[in-house]
Amino acid sequence: MTAQTHHEFDLRSSNTMGIAAVARPLIEVLDVADLPNVFDVFNGVRPLVLGSGSNIVFAADPSMPVLRLRNEELVWREDGDDVYVQVGAGLNWHAFVMDTVARGLWGIENLAYIPGTVGACPIQNIGAYGVEVKDAVLNVTVFEVATGSFHTLSNADCDFSYRESMFKRDLTKYVITNVEFRLSKQPKPQLSYAGLSEVLNDDGTLTSKQVADAVIAIRQSKLPDPVVLGNAGSFFKNPIVPLQVAEALAAQYEKMPVFKGSSDATRKLSAAWLIDQAGWKGHREGDAGVSPGHALVLVNYGNATGADIMNLAHKITASVHDKFNITIEPEPRVVG
Ligand code: FAD
Ligand code: EPU
Repeated sequence: MTAQTHHEFDLRSSNTMGIAAVARPLIEVLDVADLPNVFDVFNGVRPLVLGSGSNIVFAADPSMPVLRLRNEELVWREDGDDVYVQVGAGLNWHAFVMDTVARGLWGIENLAYIPGTVGACPIQNIGAYGVEVKDAVLNVTVFEVATGSFHTLSNADCDFSYRESMFKRDLTKYVITNVEFRLSKQPKPQLSYAGLSEVLNDDGTLTSKQVADAVIAIRQSKLPDPVVLGNAGSFFKNPIVPLQVAEALAAQYEKMPVFKGSSDATRKLSAAWLIDQAGWKGHREGDAGVSPGHALVLVNYGNATGADIMNLAHKITASVHDKFNITIEPEPRVVG
């Protein structure tokens, strides 16, 4: 077996919120062929699968073993203008995106600079700047915990939607071991996001690397760097509400941003705007706070516990509900 066991592992630098927690144990797997043996050792206890910890809040020490995949292989194949690549779950997402744009490929350039691993990208169908990863995922290979067998699931099987997938409905059912993507040699710039179309011009010479670089610059100007200030990106999902609810609020609050919903009958509201209007931007309680730069980002100024962060999150949720009658839901997984 290539698995490594750490009987007691400090998780503080393994979650971008920088919350202190301990794994007992953490098992790291380099070769996913070892997973059946590793699960034999777990003896029926379902582990927490940890990627880079950029969408996790440790409200307490995990009560289950923690499993981390370290497989980082890339297998490329081509068919005309289409390029297919199967990627190991343990590979860093941003490094993978930059590899694809260095090869001149199109498909995931708008998703540059999202922290995390390739294995986690299907879990919440990561999205940014007008693109969701579901647009590029061909299939997902999983280890099914109940049967101890490997399967390849199609894009449709994953049932992707905004910050959702089939995986999120039961986070202990599968371990994602590989993801296969379909990319293209043909330019397909997605510049619909206002901030991007302001700085880029699709004049026929644009490269996917230029799009990725523009996305990186926008992201660096808006979001705190977790290395400097602990955070998990957007702490709440943008709420999707019936059209009538959005219209009634927009009539009351002229400047409220309203985005396309999941269907013509719905609209997406901006959780950042709702939280900002409720007066929380820059608020700090001990070491837990709301970023002064972006109202959707909860931050750890140093020694906040997961409970401190969740306590603040509950107050924000209640206050937004009182003011707007809208329920906002956390985006990260809360453990413990
Ligand atoms: P983790 O946080 O370790 O885990 C997240 C979930 O996935 C957990 O439930 C975990 O159990 C599960 N999981 C992880 N790996 C596997 C696996 N191999 N098999 C089964 N389950 C697994 N997200 C966006 O969508 N768009 C953004 O623009 C964005 N920006 C961000 C900016 C910042 C600064 C930060 C800190 C986060 C941001 N995020 C964003 C959230 C985060 O980057 C993504 O959700 C990312 O995919 C999480 O990857 P991870 O490896 O850190 O997963
Ligand atoms: N806004 C405020 N106050 C603020 C910040 C923003 O009112 O402090 C308003 C602005 O009017 C802006 C609107 O909120 O028009 C939306 O802000 P932004 O463009 O920054 O996007 P977001 O809705 O906050 C979403 C994703 C991000 C993704 C960006 C870019 C969610 C929950 N978040 O953020 O994803 O990077 O769009 O596409 O959907 C993440 O999931 O962790 C994440 C960072």
